[in-house]
Amino acid sequence: MKKTILITGAGSGIGLDTAWALAARGHQVIATTFDQAQADALRVQAQSRGVALQVFKLDITSAADRQQIAALELDVLINNAGIGESGSLAEVDVDRIRRVFEVNLFATLELTQLALRGMIERRRGTVLFVSSVAGRVPVPFLMPYSMSKFALSAAGAGLRTELKQLRCNVHAALIEPGAIHTGFNQSMTDSKYAWMGPQSYFASQVARLKAEEARTFGLLEARSTRSIVAQIVKAAEARKPRLRYVAPWIQGFGVRLARIFGV
Ligand SMILES: NC(=O)c1ccc[n+]([C@@H]2O[C@H](COP(=O)([O-])OP(=O)(O)OC[C@H]3O[C@@H](n4cnc5c(N)ncnc54)[C@H](OP(=O)(O)O)[C@@H]3O)[C@@H](O)[C@H]2O)c1
Repeated sequence: MKKTILITGAGSGIGLDTAWALAARGHQVIATTFDQAQADALRVQAQSRGVALQVFKLDITSAADRQQIAALELDVLINNAGIGESGSLAEVDVDRIRRVFEVNLFATLELTQLALRGMIERRRGTVLFVSSVAGRVPVPFLMPYSMSKFALSAAGAGLRTELKQLRCNVHAALIEPGAIHTGFNQSMTDSKYAWMGPQSYFASQVARLKAEEARTFGLLEARSTRSIVAQIVKAAEARKPRLRYVAPWIQGFGVRLARIFGV
């Protein structure tokens, strides 16, 4: 069945590739972007590829932008927009953590509530939350981000149970990507070096941290978004999506092991 699917943060990375994949499968895709420039560029790209995409700017932290979705009859909302932030919890400015929660959790929830109104009324719909494997195991020096994804995964799982009790045929599910090379991880890990001066507890370890991060992500990151996009498509098309969709599978397996061993 062809569905009307809105995706946030579709100006780049996983969101953009998901928009192309869903459109190729014949769905009516509404690809929304953080800013107007991304929306204009995406519209041009869609035209030149001959792909029917509806595109508009939706900064999920803007109430006015969010309001645009109130009138849409969505079958699926894909909450993909997200930001990263790094630094040790021992010293990171808590306002930086607030900003991450504002986007990754609070704005995401506000948008979801708007979409849910129509879905519950029509007794049909799916909300997907693009969380992270970093929402299953705490990641040192990425905790501002990791905590926001823990909270998002908890929110998605809790909402799923609540919706079940409404028996309204509206579902919530989690998408949990492992490390994927989109540039997101590099910007996130680098963000802390903008403020970690000589006063940082970790000042003498910066060179080691940078080398470790480059090595870890170099080894870990999937080179393409293909596996996670396939999972998002599966979840969006499912009549009753399961709770979690994880990719690449090897990273999902690693997370399960880490949890068994109490990381
Ligand atoms: N790549 C990974 O390894 C990985 C792993 C686990 C989970 N994830 C999650 O996957 C999702 C997509 O990440 P990605 O890797 O594809 O990185 P990305 O290309 O940076 O995608 C994130 C998108 O969200 C947009 N965005 C940021 N703030 C927004 C806002 N307030 N309103 C609307 N859009 C906003 C960004 O716009 P700008 O580009 O203009 O900032 C960007 O287009 C994120 O939720 C991320 O946490 C990624």
